[in-house]
Formats: sequence, C-alpha cells, structure tokens
Amino acid sequence: MMAIDNAASIRTIGVLGAGTMGTGIAQTAARAGFDVILCDLDRAIVERSVATMDQFLRKAVEKGKLAEADRAAALARVRGTADRADLAGADLVVEAIVERLDAKREAFRALDGLCRPEVILASNTSSISITEIAAATGRPDRVVGMHFFNPVPVMQLVEIVRGHYTSDATVAAVRGLAARLGKETVLCRKDSPGFIVNRILMPMLAEAMRLLEEGVATPEDVDKAVQLGLNHPMGPFTLADFIGLDVDYYVMDYLYSEFRDPRFAPPRVLKELIRAGRLGRKNGRGFYDYGHGPRMC
Ligand code: CAA
Repeated sequence: MMAIDNAASIRTIGVLGAGTMGTGIAQTAARAGFDVILCDLDRAIVERSVATMDQFLRKAVEKGKLAEADRAAALARVRGTADRADLAGADLVVEAIVERLDAKREAFRALDGLCRPEVILASNTSSISITEIAAATGRPDRVVGMHFFNPVPVMQLVEIVRGHYTSDATVAAVRGLAARLGKETVLCRKDSPGFIVNRILMPMLAEAMRLLEEGVATPEDVDKAVQLGLNHPMGPFTLADFIGLDVDYYVMDYLYSEFRDPRFAPPRVLKELIRAGRLGRKNGRGFYDYGHGPRMC
C-alpha cells in the first residue's frame, strides 16, 4: 500500500460540499494545479459552484492577473459530480458540508468506506470536534481539520486542527498541502472548540451585537470604529453578515455549550434576525439590507 503522507504525492483533491467554502477550496486547488473532484449531492449546487468559479477566473483574466489559457486549464481540472463514489479517485478529501455533527459523521463514515485507506480526510469545520468526526471512521490518525476562511482564494490562512488521534505524518502532509495551495498555516495543537480564530472572533462579534442591544452605537458606527480604529478590513456587523448570521449563531451556540461561558452566548438580536429570515449577505438581508444599499434593518 502506498502511503500518501507526503504532500508532494497528492495530485487529486476531493472536495465534498459545493457551497461557498467548497467552491473557494476547489477554485484555489484548481488554480494551484491540482485535479479536483467537486462533489455535492445536489447537482444544481455543483453547477452553480462551477459557474461561480468560472466567473471569478474570468474576472482575474479581465484584470490581467491570469492568462486565458490558465483560466481554461484550471476550470478543466475541476470535475463536478453528484455521486460521492467518484471521490474514491481522490488522494485527499476536504469536507465542507453543512456544519452539523450528524451530517459530518455520516459523510466521514461514507468517505472512509470509499477512499483508499491511506487517504487523509480533512474537515473544513469551523468549530466541531475533529476527534468526534474522526470517530466515525476507521482511520482517526488520518482525520484532521483544515479550516479555510472566506473568501478562500483571497484569505491567506488555513488553521490545521489536530484531533486526539491525528498523526504527526497527517499534520505534516496537510501543512505541506496548504503551502502548495499558497496558504499560510497555524497549528491548533488541541481539538479545542472554535480552534484559534473563532475563539477570538465570535466573542468580538457578540460584543458588537451587545453594543447594539444596549443602544450604545449604531451598526454603522460600530463598523466604522473597528475599521478606522483597529484597521480591520470589515467592521463586525459587515463581517457577521458576510459569514452568515445562521453560521454565526451556530458557532457561538456551540462555543457557549462547550465552555458555558457567557462571553460566547449568542445575543438575542442575532436570533431575532434569523427568525425574521435575515441570514446576511447570502440572502440579501442581515444587519444591513443589501438590496437597497447598506442600511440597518
Ligand atoms: N473568490 C475569489 N476572489 C474573490 C472573492 C471570492 N469569493 N471575493 C473577493 N475576491 C477577490 C476580488 O476579486 C479581488 O481580487 P483582486 O485584488 O485580484 O482584484 C479581491 O478579492 C478583493 O476584493 P474586492 O476588491 O471586491 O473587495 P475588498 O478589497 O473590499 O476585499 C475582502 C474583500 C477580501 C472580503 C475583505 O473585505 C476582507 O478581507 N474582509 C474580511 C474577511 C474575513 O474576515 N474573512 C474571514 C471570515 S471568518 C471565516 O471565514 C471562518 C469562520 O469559520 C466563520
């Protein structure tokens, strides 16, 4: 059996889940020269994902940042499929499906049955325990977190998360792979809820929402304060909308349930907006209304 511990031997990357994150991961991998098998059980989502990639790659050509031939070659390297069995051809799989433990465990159980035993199975989870996901497989030493950030083609970081049984060889392989994708890595040495970035980000977003609830400042002014006073590229309300209010809620709630620390408790305003169908930029309305210019709801 050939071991695929060495990042250099990874040629084909499987991506399970063709939402925003899966699309960004697939696009980044294809541009870096990997063959990509992009799988989502919903064929329409796969088609939309490939169309989105095409759109971004064309923009890069228009801006003179990518040669036309390279755009065509990158897109040709992506094979979209709605059949998970096609992932059997991958040398490493990154899972980027819905952020639910039951769904992830089911997916990893299936991947474990499909993929060659030496293949590393990585999860792009932003908070769920890698150890718990890995327990659904017979290869917990080859299960690891590879947490990308949105928009994946632009953001430099990948958090590598070690589960309880993740081997050193697996960590080394995914660090090497991230480098080949043009990314910087940090290692979360413990499988700790929220890893590094969300442990810091979520209390910040929650605190901004509490400022709003207390009537201290408007979202516009909180965003302006953080952008101009801290030099963040986006203020917390714009970022919360960008991530998706449902995702923010889910991650905060998970952190709160794990740590029992009120710092992480999702603010009521977040729940209210979600109940009102405002999920952020993805559906045009969150803290701001994107259909009619940035405006507080
Ligand atoms: N795919 C590919 N390229 C994209 C893209 C996408 N989805 N979105 C933007 N880009 C590219 C643009 O084409 C543009 O490229 P060029 O520089 O080559 O022209 C570049 O990114 C910058 O985009 P814009 O000029 O449109 O806008 P901007 O300068 O305002 O930057 C931003 C946009 C990169 C999103 C910036 O505002 C930013 O960095 N925001 C913070 C993002 C952030 O914090 N992300 C992490 C969220 S947390 C997370 O993801 C993890 C979690 O678990 C919740």
